[in-house]
Amino acid sequence: MSTGKQAQEEASAAREMVCETVVLGVSGAVGATEVPQLIVLLRREFCRRVQVVMTRTAELFLTPYAAEVFSGQPVGTSSELPKPNSWQGHIRLAKEASVLLVAPATANMVARLATGLAEDLVSTVTLAATCPKVIAPAMNIRMFENATTQRNLRELREHGFYIIEPVVGIEVATMEVSFGSMPQPREIANFLFNVMAANPGAKDQPEQT
Ligand SMILES: Cc1cc2nc3c(=O)[nH]c(=O)nc-3n(C[C@H](O)[C@H](O)[C@H](O)COP(=O)(O)O)c2cc1C
Repeated sequence: MSTGKQAQEEASAAREMVCETVVLGVSGAVGATEVPQLIVLLRREFCRRVQVVMTRTAELFLTPYAAEVFSGQPVGTSSELPKPNSWQGHIRLAKEASVLLVAPATANMVARLATGLAEDLVSTVTLAATCPKVIAPAMNIRMFENATTQRNLRELREHGFYIIEPVVGIEVATMEVSFGSMPQPREIANFLFNVMAANPGAKDQPEQT
């Protein structure tokens, strides 16, 4: 007879997952506070492993400790350089990703990704990744509608990025109902399901190192 823990592990192994590893990049937007719920949903229904990488600013909204608690994995931050050949190496992380999700993606992050700047762990891993790449921009409506942000998003689409449109939510700075919030975890997970259905080859990443 199996113990409670064993039974849990067996149930988890038996759950059909869509893919192996989501590399989840988190940047410094208010939506980062919602990332723990997103991680839990992805681990329950979508993938065997969520590997979180963060910008320095993201650490103001979500502690690496919390990200580690919810993901059950060590977390890559941008505050210190990873040790050479460690699991946090950007190339290794990029190769291990079945899909790469940046949520929330700040205006700053969108601009970095559109121009190929790699000055933090999230943008560096994204630049190195060849799996499907999905970003969830979340920002004030004026920042989102700004011609530069729109140009950056167009470029990212042209380069094959999938963009999850922001939704109407409460803007914390003003307490107004406004467009620009990160969608709920369920909507993000549904979007990822569709991306993986459209990219059947991505399912069985990791790429061999
Ligand atoms: C309280 C607070 C909330 C912020 N929320 C957002 C946001 O929702 N979206 C955004 O694009 N930037 C937001 N910013 C600005 C970013 O944190 C800032 O551009 C930062 O440089 C982003 O860094 P990163 O992209 O490296 O994480 C916010 C800043 C503060 C102080």
